[in-house]
Amino acid sequence: MDNQNTINEVRSKINIVDLVSEYVPLTKKGQYYWGICPFHNDKNPSMSVDEKRQTYTCWSCHNSGNVFNFYEQIENVSFREALAALADRVGVKVNSGKATKYVDKYAKYYEIYDLASKFYELMINTESGKKAREYLKKRGIDQDTIKEFGIGLSLDDKDRLIKYFKEKKVDINTLNDLGLANNNIDTFINRIIFPLDDRNGRIVGFSGRIYDDTNMAKYMNTKETPIFRKGSCLYHYNASKEHVRMKKYVIVMEGFMDVIRASTIGIKNTVALMGTALTEEQILLIKKLSSTVYLCLDGDTPGLTADLHNGELLEKAGLTVKVVNLSDDEDPDSYILKNGKEKFEALIEGALNYSDFRIERLRVGINFNSDVELSKYVNNVLKEIVNIDDEIRREIILKKLATETYLSYNTLEKKLLELAGKEKKVDTIEVKREDKRRNKYERASLEFLYYMLINERAIRIYDSKKLYFINSDLRALAGEISYYYHNYGNIVIADFYTYLNDKKELLTSFEEIINLNLNEEVSDETLSEYSKVISDYSVRQEIKRLEEDLKKEPDELEKAKIAERIRMLRIGGEANDWSKVHNWR
Ligand code: CTP
Ligand code: MN
Repeated sequence: MDNQNTINEVRSKINIVDLVSEYVPLTKKGQYYWGICPFHNDKNPSMSVDEKRQTYTCWSCHNSGNVFNFYEQIENVSFREALAALADRVGVKVNSGKATKYVDKYAKYYEIYDLASKFYELMINTESGKKAREYLKKRGIDQDTIKEFGIGLSLDDKDRLIKYFKEKKVDINTLNDLGLANNNIDTFINRIIFPLDDRNGRIVGFSGRIYDDTNMAKYMNTKETPIFRKGSCLYHYNASKEHVRMKKYVIVMEGFMDVIRASTIGIKNTVALMGTALTEEQILLIKKLSSTVYLCLDGDTPGLTADLHNGELLEKAGLTVKVVNLSDDEDPDSYILKNGKEKFEALIEGALNYSDFRIERLRVGINFNSDVELSKYVNNVLKEIVNIDDEIRREIILKKLATETYLSYNTLEKKLLELAGKEKKVDTIEVKREDKRRNKYERASLEFLYYMLINERAIRIYDSKKLYFINSDLRALAGEISYYYHNYGNIVIADFYTYLNDKKELLTSFEEIINLNLNEEVSDETLSEYSKVISDYSVRQEIKRLEEDLKKEPDELEKAKIAERIRMLRIGGEANDWSKVHNWR
């Protein structure tokens, strides 16, 4: 296996300015070289290359990395292939067959899932898979699509997978833990298997669908495991990335059959919620993909209700939301089957702005002949308009409202101004602003992490104070920086990018941090100040969380325990040892 030193040697022998120049003309301005970013539809040079650090950053689409990251993406190859190609150029020998990654805690789990998925894929092409193949064929899913989505089959046999893994020396307990077996029999029996992958494209779970007339649950999903949580999973997330980047928006659907169907007509900038309510984590993931979301959920009442609710959550998170209107009883899958590609594309094209969708929903069922209903309707629409920032759109909607209700434009406008004065639009505007401007705690966290990367004193403070960051990405990043430092001695930013290969979800935060470009000198006082801000904030947040728990807890004994924890935190202040506090959960 190639060790990290070999990889870093290759990295250090290729000058990133030379490599990027092969694809993008670069001009030197100030400290950086600048060029058109090849990873998004860039109009003016947004990508800088930092020769000193040996990294590149696009300030618009936030793609960033070292020579390997650049080569992988521009040549569309894996890390291994990038390493092999670049090593070849500088005459460094690397092993070709073996894995050349930093070892991951869960590597074995991912490997097991990968094997299980391949096993199921093989089974669907066996004689016993005939019925499942026919089912898929009847639903219009051809061989290419089966391949593309890694669709497989678990046979009608209680321990086929267990036996397979027995040969591979994987014990039954591991399979139970990973949700592949349950009480020592296979979890998935006689189901069509859809692999679920994480945000990096690693298979971490399965969903199995019945395909003959049994009255079992239609779908069955992997349970929560160390590597799989349904709430943080979006079907087709990883594969959608490049398509979302090209189309500049992501379409969110309800089920994975919808995503698969859309793919058969070449629409691949899609993800599916898999029947769950949209979670905070999923919103963050979506935000990393694109700033514009098209909701394309089922056309029934629960689907519409979900559109309303999800749209609100997504807009609050600062995303632009559009809603695709499917008629009742249709889902994207059935709509596409019935109406074909062009009609579906037209439907997407005609998606409503979220605010228009809300107004449209208000209109449903209103009896325009009833004064009471009409007046209620007008007031509700005005309340919606108040929250629209765009003056022109406000006027257009107001004009429409005047026409459909036979009220005068002036009256409506007067009413609107009254309302605007009252509501002052605090909600929406504040939320958006908060998004861009970092509060004191966030700035302290980012700046402290910056110093952890360039100054070992910061790492020592992190270790000794056991600093706890509320933001999970920053928390993970801090852990990785400390781990890296203790294992590899010093930190070279360009090499740290390679280390993050398996943790790409941390790249956005990492990029933001290293580009803070703070003064490299930092005093001990400043570092302590940062650490104090971070721990004080964590304590406050933890107390808030516990107070919420306290409200919900029915049991008196538990209540007392929680109250005691709160008391301890209040007196403990900065002296709290976070590893202990969080073991309580
Ligand atoms: N789902 C689930 N368990 C169920 C039903 C649904 O996990 N018992 C999830 C699945 O991920 C599914 C999504 O919810 O993709 C949407 O459910 P539904 O609309 O019922 O499924 P369809 O996508 O329409 O699937 P099909 O067309 O195969 O019936
Ligand atoms: Mn369906």
